[in-house]
Amino acid sequence: MMSNFSSEFLWGASTSAYQVEGAASIDGKKPSQQDVINKDSYKKFGFATAEIASDQYHHYKEDIALMKEMGFKAYRFSIAWSRVFPDGVGEVNEKGIQYYRDLINELKKNDIEPIITLYHYDLPWALVEKYGGWLDRQVVKDFEYYARFIINEFKDKVKYWTTINEQSIIVQYWTQKCYIPQELQGNNQLRYQINHHMNLAHAIACKLVHELVPNGLVGAALGYSPVYPLSSKPEDVMAAQNAHDLRNAFYLDIYFKGHYTKSAWIYLEKHGLAPNIEAGDMELIKEGYSDFLALNYYASECAKYCPDNGTKQIRYSGVNRSGKKGEISGFETHPGFYEMCKNPNLDTTDWDWAIDPTGLEYMFRDIYTRYEKPLMITENGLGAYDTLTMDGKVHDDYRIHYLREHIKAMNRAMEYGVEVLAYCPWSAIDLLSTSNGVKKRYGFIYVDRTDDDPKECKRLKKDSFYWYKKVIESNGEEL
Ligand code: BG6
Repeated sequence: MMSNFSSEFLWGASTSAYQVEGAASIDGKKPSQQDVINKDSYKKFGFATAEIASDQYHHYKEDIALMKEMGFKAYRFSIAWSRVFPDGVGEVNEKGIQYYRDLINELKKNDIEPIITLYHYDLPWALVEKYGGWLDRQVVKDFEYYARFIINEFKDKVKYWTTINEQSIIVQYWTQKCYIPQELQGNNQLRYQINHHMNLAHAIACKLVHELVPNGLVGAALGYSPVYPLSSKPEDVMAAQNAHDLRNAFYLDIYFKGHYTKSAWIYLEKHGLAPNIEAGDMELIKEGYSDFLALNYYASECAKYCPDNGTKQIRYSGVNRSGKKGEISGFETHPGFYEMCKNPNLDTTDWDWAIDPTGLEYMFRDIYTRYEKPLMITENGLGAYDTLTMDGKVHDDYRIHYLREHIKAMNRAMEYGVEVLAYCPWSAIDLLSTSNGVKKRYGFIYVDRTDDDPKECKRLKKDSFYWYKKVIESNGEEL
């Protein structure tokens, strides 16, 4: 394959704090909303909690040595806000911030570029208790306090900053990504209100990076799925356009143009779902411009015409908890606008995520044509059951196949001029899935633990580890 990757291209992989670190309640760290949410999922579904996760807190040197062995040029990870500020604001936890200093120093020592995500679902629980977390505008001020501290602390060591992970997914799965009291869960307007608060927080973080970090670059990390129409019937094509506007453009336009997508806004207003905007908000959003966009791409989506049957019953995305194909609990539906559905042309993972490398190429081409800003992949990967053989091997050829086809697709997009800075698939190492415990694995490095038993979290190299090492060594020539 003709490779389009420059010598500067950042090959690496990603994780997030609560999914990989463990050490959830030691060295001064207080709970985040994910510690609480995941304890509940353990009770309900038997999925591991975030208490130990992959225990990277105690294994970071070993993990970075393995990343180095694979040849990583970059590592994208997030900071746990409540490790640094256990109460969300106020006094800094020295041991907490020291962990990130050590982690970043170890990465730099190994010539691995740190790509920081400031927020990956784990709001300090103290702020949820104080005022309901993201539901309240006060969170924007508190986020600024936290972000200013972190950006200042690492401004000389970190060039690439991502702000908030997957606002689009937070809107879809808000009770898994945020703690929402039972009595508010029926109020869908709050999903967009939370998102508006996040837009403000994102803009503030962008401004701070521009102000404080010499040569710093900043953007959001957006969960993105291109939407295909189920058929070429004009009403399906129109439904796909509607879905694109509300699920994708709604975020892209904020990040790159500084305003809400008109059609999506009109739809939200019509249904009483539009967020309250205060004076000065849109100016702030405009000032907090992005230098690039990080994309988390796993799957494409499909939409079809949905008649307005008068019920106005809006539904959001379902989830597959069982890991058996076909057991997804439902599709997002907006009567009169669109209904999401299964794409009959694509195979899926065991958790019903469509496998579609061309979707990545399409996403890159589409976004780049519209906004002409550099892009990077901060997540892409296959959640799968892995088997550890008696001799300590994991033959994950399915994962290699998935990643190979996606890298080829990225390369094709680059051939048509798309500027791609980095490829950081999900995940560097096995970790706690957001919705399915630890048995759904993504890593190049196997972590020997189960949902019930953390054992010693021993690290083992999967076949994909050796494969990815070659990919990086050959700068994408040998796939
Ligand atoms: C992304 C998140 O939505 O998808 C990650 O940013 C997450 O945190 C990943 O782990 C895969 O999803 P899941 O539910 O399989 O863990």
